[in-house]
Amino acid sequence: MFLQKELPVRLANIMKEINLLPDHLLTMPSVKLVMSWYQQSFKELIEFENRDSIKSKELEKFTSTLVHIRNRHSNVVETMAQGVMELKEMHGIDINTENRIQYFLDRFYMSRISIRMLINQHTLLFGKKEKNNDPRHIGCIDPNCNVSHVVQDAYENARFLCEQYYLTAPELQVVSKNSSDDPVMFSCSTESAKDPIQIVYVPSHLYHILFELFKNAMRAATEYHIHEDTIPPLSVMIVKGQEDLSIKISDQGGGIQRRKLDLVFQYMYSTAPQPARSDVASAPLAGYGYGLPLSRLYARYFQGDIVLNSFEGYGTDAIIYLKVLSNEANEMLPVYNKTATKVYQSDVPVNDWSSPWMTNQRSISSLTRL
Ligand SMILES: Nc1ncnc2c1ncn2[C@@H]1O[C@H](COP(=O)(O)OP(=O)(O)OP(=O)(O)O)[C@@H](O)[C@H]1O
Ligand SMILES: [Mg+2]
Repeated sequence: MFLQKELPVRLANIMKEINLLPDHLLTMPSVKLVMSWYQQSFKELIEFENRDSIKSKELEKFTSTLVHIRNRHSNVVETMAQGVMELKEMHGIDINTENRIQYFLDRFYMSRISIRMLINQHTLLFGKKEKNNDPRHIGCIDPNCNVSHVVQDAYENARFLCEQYYLTAPELQVVSKNSSDDPVMFSCSTESAKDPIQIVYVPSHLYHILFELFKNAMRAATEYHIHEDTIPPLSVMIVKGQEDLSIKISDQGGGIQRRKLDLVFQYMYSTAPQPARSDVASAPLAGYGYGLPLSRLYARYFQGDIVLNSFEGYGTDAIIYLKVLSNEANEMLPVYNKTATKVYQSDVPVNDWSSPWMTNQRSISSLTRL
């Protein structure tokens, strides 16, 4: 019943915001296609607005409509990205348009994460065909998500990709510290008395974030030490406090220049060669420039964050912050209102500092000002 009301509202909010995009972008074929998916899904959902889905027949229909919608929207990220590329190729993108698009994509993809979360939760709980294999899970939520297991899993899969490309990959070192009030547990010998570190979380979200950060760290470390006999390992630190769960991934991949640090969270910023579109068989290690911005959205969705600290000439620390207390891990959603509308109409503020370096940096730093 909650979803019958909530899903059309979320779709409507983001559709209103799509309409505020620059006209040029709205006329791109891929953007039109994405719009048509949203319109169709909205139409299908609004049918259920006042229906009584307590009846099992109605519930079945509603669930199968949701599955349909999820499938229809499965390529939204790529298609929207394609739309922006089309705009770039046909008209070019000025700084104001770039800022608006970055602002929009953050909100658009965040809205999509939230909608998919709700749909997945519903289909896992009520769908006949889909059931989570693990009986301890509640839908897609794991009340005892074991963080080091997810770290290990993400590392192994990123390592597989890295070895495919470079025939080698850095090793992993993990240290963890549980400083929360969790009850003392007795576990296997490699873990301290209070381990394992667990939180209430959606394991697939955490996996997504870690996998992206590991791929980045591995690429940097391997390329930086490619002519040496050994690649320095990646160090991961997992700490659970009273409020924050922090995961730090440190690599010795040479770091990122401070000047470019804001750029790495921009959609489509990548220093890797663009992967061939036809190359569907093998997943690329890098190249779309979506890894960091999307991972940060996943972290922020439940009130967490991702922060990068770089030491140019040495390496990078990527830190994931998550909320320990599940009652603080509420959804973070874009709000469609007058303030949001203004962002699409206002230009980048004129710089009022005299440093010539800053003038060159306008395109980089303006995003943080928004
Ligand atoms: N640990 C790191 N060390 C050095 N540079 C990094 C690191 N992490 C990210 N970067 C830089 O930031 C850029 C953007 O990273 P991001 O993960 O968003 O995209 P990508 O890795 O290029 O492509 P993909 O979308 O496939 O992840 C990278 O191309 C790289 O130049
Ligand atoms: Mg990446």
